[in-house]
Amino acid sequence: MPAQPPRPAGGAPAVDPVAERFHFLVNAPALFNAVVTALEWDVFGHLSAHAGASFEELRTATGVPAHPLRILLHAVCTTGLLERNPDGGYRNAPAAAELLVPDGPDNWRHILTGWREIYYPAFSRMSEALAAGTNTALDAYPGDEPTLYRRLAHEPELEAVFHRSMSAFTLKSLDALVETEEFATVRHLLDIGGGDGTTSARLLARHPGMRSTVFDIPSVARLAADADPGVADRVRPHPGDLFTDPFPAGADAVLFSHVLEIFSAEQITELLTKAYDALPSGGRVFVYGYNASDDETGGWYSARLSLYLNVLASGQGMAYPARDWEEWMRRAGFDAVRTRTGYPYEHGLTIGTKR
Ligand SMILES: C[S@@+](CC[C@H](N)C(=O)[O-])C[C@H]1O[C@@H](n2cnc3c(N)ncnc32)[C@H](O)[C@@H]1O
Repeated sequence: MPAQPPRPAGGAPAVDPVAERFHFLVNAPALFNAVVTALEWDVFGHLSAHAGASFEELRTATGVPAHPLRILLHAVCTTGLLERNPDGGYRNAPAAAELLVPDGPDNWRHILTGWREIYYPAFSRMSEALAAGTNTALDAYPGDEPTLYRRLAHEPELEAVFHRSMSAFTLKSLDALVETEEFATVRHLLDIGGGDGTTSARLLARHPGMRSTVFDIPSVARLAADADPGVADRVRPHPGDLFTDPFPAGADAVLFSHVLEIFSAEQITELLTKAYDALPSGGRVFVYGYNASDDETGGWYSARLSLYLNVLASGQGMAYPARDWEEWMRRAGFDAVRTRTGYPYEHGLTIGTKR
């Protein structure tokens, strides 16, 4: 039963937005999966080309039997992403046209497929993992390595889904980083935990005088070798372990993009100190990623990431607020530490300079 908000005298019922959000939230896992299914069946793509298509047209286009398609379309209509005309034809809502139709490497289909295959199955074990204080959901993956990143090396297909999803989200949140003026003078970037090289490729495309060394675990670093052909000759994969292997020398800037938040305060200080030691005087460190709000009450994306890290990925870490990054950077020896916040998807950038 929907909440029955109090009805003020003579007016429309006052809707408590939190109650309204609650009712959406408790149905969201089902509706999330319905939206991913609609993406898989290219419902939004079909309606982009054939706005107002009838149920029968959608049935022919998807090849799905009538009853399951009826169920699916009803579910997606309840989210508002699909709309139904009075004549029964369907069309994309403006948000669906903007978010779910355009194809390309940053497509939400890639992101949500990764969340469905990897993140959300793990969240069913949240109470157990948080109570244990470790990432017990990792038991579902073969191997004995302590993090998801390393265990995925045993499952190359899932590892590819994971990196496609991560790369797609990174592309959505990357513009602010790429346009950061401090990169204009960087000649050699050390991209720590650089994944499949998506971030480095975008930075190199923007800054023709820059080259990059992408340091990641061996099964991932080799993906960076297939970087965008336009910049491939300036990307060097460097396979290894961030903690047990030294940082390669020669870079004048170190980037940690969506990496340090995986770890504990002690590990972060250790990695920032390694960055400090690897840099020349005047070298810069950049830490980019989700920042929880200072009072730790805001940020859906940050909250989801922190839960994922603790339940599945590493069993620690979080989307730390900016003040934590600044403190750890200073502790590692960096000067002129400052943070820029307010970027899309709750992102922030903290920069420090080696004196
Ligand atoms: C969340 S991804 C970020 C990828 C990329 N920097 C981006 O912004 O999209 C974290 C990366 O850290 C790497 N990583 C985690 N632990 C590592 C370790 N001990 N040694 C090397 N790389 C590691 C993972 O393989 C993964 O590619």
